[in-house]
Amino acid sequence: DDSDEIDEESKHRQLDEVRENPEGEDLTTDHGVEVSDTDNSLKASERGPTLMEDFHFREKMTQFDHESIPERVVHARGTGAHGYFQPYEDPDLGEYGDISDLTKAAFLQDPDQKTPVFVRFSTVVGSRGSADTVRDVRGFATKFYTEEGNFDLVGNNIPVFFIQDAMEFPDLVHAIKPEPDDGMPQASSAHDTFWDFASLKPEITHMLMWLLSGRALPRAYRMMQGFGVHTFRLVNEDGDSVFVKYHWTPKLGTNQLVWDETQTLAGKNPDFNRQELYDVIEAGYEPEWELGVQIFDEDEAAEFDFDVLDPTKIVPERDVPVRPIGKMVLNETPDNFFAETEQVAFHPGNVVPGIDFSNDPLLQGRLFSYQDTQLNRFNSANWDEIPINRPLAERHNNQRAGFMRQEINESTVSYKPNSIGDDDPQEVPEEEGGYEHYAEKIDGKKIRNRSESFQDHFGQARLFWNSMSETEQQNIVDAAHFELAKVDRPEIRERIVYDLFNNVDHEFARRVAEGIDVEPPAEPGDELPDHDAEDPTLSMLN
Ligand code: HEM
Repeated sequence: DDSDEIDEESKHRQLDEVRENPEGEDLTTDHGVEVSDTDNSLKASERGPTLMEDFHFREKMTQFDHESIPERVVHARGTGAHGYFQPYEDPDLGEYGDISDLTKAAFLQDPDQKTPVFVRFSTVVGSRGSADTVRDVRGFATKFYTEEGNFDLVGNNIPVFFIQDAMEFPDLVHAIKPEPDDGMPQASSAHDTFWDFASLKPEITHMLMWLLSGRALPRAYRMMQGFGVHTFRLVNEDGDSVFVKYHWTPKLGTNQLVWDETQTLAGKNPDFNRQELYDVIEAGYEPEWELGVQIFDEDEAAEFDFDVLDPTKIVPERDVPVRPIGKMVLNETPDNFFAETEQVAFHPGNVVPGIDFSNDPLLQGRLFSYQDTQLNRFNSANWDEIPINRPLAERHNNQRAGFMRQEINESTVSYKPNSIGDDDPQEVPEEEGGYEHYAEKIDGKKIRNRSESFQDHFGQARLFWNSMSETEQQNIVDAAHFELAKVDRPEIRERIVYDLFNNVDHEFARRVAEGIDVEPPAEPGDELPDHDAEDPTLSMLN
């Protein structure tokens, strides 16, 4: 039984099979031929042209020419680390810790078992070579190599998101990424596109508040919270399900840089966050997070004044406290950035029995997007065979072939049903561990609209603003001044102030307006200022 074999070191043992360390070895070609000279190409006479028959030159250059793969379309820049997850011991925590009544997921049951993990932290918008300390969301993606298969918790450091439906994601990313004409990420034109999109999408308001706060400027990756963002489901042995929100809480607390520090660091050390994590782990510190869950059922969900399927909302902790269930420790840096951090491929659709999805329309769309983009990134469906992505759980199925297939399948049949393969892999009933999707009852018409229950865009943004100290509020106003001052078009700045911020808090809207050359709204709920009809900016609005 594999289940007893998984421990903290299991993934390392698996990776050891492909580790290569050439210290003291002879230099060879990829085909194992020893090389006598790797500095000089083979030429027709001492000063003559290079010869095609120089196989070492051809191979060395070809390999180099093909070194780069596409960067992730978002979250391109990141850093990774190995570690383990361990459920908390029950007794000290009373009702906390043990959640065996809520989920059958094996890796969450045994406080003596350490499940290997690989975590990748990232910025979202910048290219692979951009600076770390920019104002941005941070990705916080964890791959658990469990005995029941890989579970990926692909979260962010901010608990809400920009949009409510996956259909809007390409628009959001096109608005936020460098401009199509000049490719410049920081020029003021790029600020126009993002803020233009934002000003026309009131659902973005709650996320904007977090993004303008210090949460978007983490001091260190090990001082950052993580959130699953969406509502997910847990399912227990009896097939009962509850809703869950995931929280990672850093042991060191949540700490932020201030804006001036981020700007200085972006110049002096663009690798500030990546280097910090690498250096502390190399120095023997072991960054740690607590995994907590907010648990609620369908009836409780129906009582909230927001929809739990709406990813622009949090479930307030005063309504549903966070229950700590385990810890994650990062204790080893990768040996090879490309093989591990660059090639790791997370996917919110990687779940294990006991963990399931909700109908959040953003999550539902993600379930398609990740695998699809990874086909682009790896140019093959076999990226799951790459060591960092390979599960520790055994794999047997009739999937076959494709670019770079590594497995040598021995069976003579690769189809089902069949009458000639006695030993071929058999389906596993749910009681014996087979994954079964939660049988949620669905009844309704096919429809392409936004649920009425997704319509309050300002209530939680206001809660966020009101929960800030005066200094934090000032930082948010200053951030809005900095960002919006780079927006050339006045009508975009006005819409942000009048259509979004004035619905969050009137004083906040006034303070922002004053720093960005917009007439401050006189009253809460004020309409946009009335321009001369000839004003070209007005016609752009229509
Ligand atoms: C990465 C799509 C929303 C967290 C990615 C990637 C894509 C993508 C295409 C690149 C993956 C790769 O190349 O391996 C989407 C879509 C979304 C969405 C379509 C909405 C419809 C979110 C949300 C979160 C999130 C809500 C957080 C809860 C991440 C993280 C990564 C990522 C952490 C980086 C994973 C890594 O380190 O490799 N996303 N995303 N995304 N996404 Fe999303």
